[in-house]
Amino acid sequence: MLNIALPKGRLGEKVYSMFEKAGFRCPAIYENNRKLIFENAELGIRYFWVKPSDVAIYVERGAADIGVAGKDILLEYEPDVYELFDLDIGKCSMAVAGMADFCDPSHRALRVATKFTNIAKKYYKSQGREIDIIHLNGSIEIAPILGLSDVIVDIVETGTTLKENNLEVIEKIVPISARLIANKASFKFKNQQIEKILGSFKEQSEAGND
Ligand code: PRP
Repeated sequence: MLNIALPKGRLGEKVYSMFEKAGFRCPAIYENNRKLIFENAELGIRYFWVKPSDVAIYVERGAADIGVAGKDILLEYEPDVYELFDLDIGKCSMAVAGMADFCDPSHRALRVATKFTNIAKKYYKSQGREIDIIHLNGSIEIAPILGLSDVIVDIVETGTTLKENNLEVIEKIVPISARLIANKASFKFKNQQIEKILGSFKEQSEAGND
């Protein structure tokens, strides 16, 4: 049985359709219920919907053989998995953002609010800038408005959230997209199925999957 962790939500539906095109169908997944696990015993495949930020944990620990996770999560948590392929979907950026009148207070540590503390620390270390990290779990954009932080490090997709809160991108850190990842042992022992999926994903991507 090949276990596949799918990121719950819009991206996950797109990802599932790519698996379907690769020949790993599981029609029960379209049933309108709150089930989280779906199986096609005939094809020897089992899908489960997990929170996007948890996909890498399932794969790293072998509860899932493969899965699709955002590059943001891979950079932040550095799970011990193989990153097999960039699906080129779910594209956005990790960026530093602040108020339109932001001016770097160079005489003191820069206060940075973020969910992505590891990414932020590494980025500012590479810049040689001392920072004071403020870890938040959501609504990061509020922090500079209320003076809790000087800047934020967060995901920017359309830019709407920043715009509606009078914030601007100061610097882009890294582009983000969805990646196919595999458990290291599974990649060895279930290689045939995984290679089939990988091959199909590459073909779909070259054919301009949207
Ligand atoms: C992300 C991010 C921003 C928003 C950016 O949050 O934290 O708030 O998306 O998107 P935009 O540039 O298109 O406006 P998400 O919706 O993923 O929810 P989260 O707060 O749970 O991370």
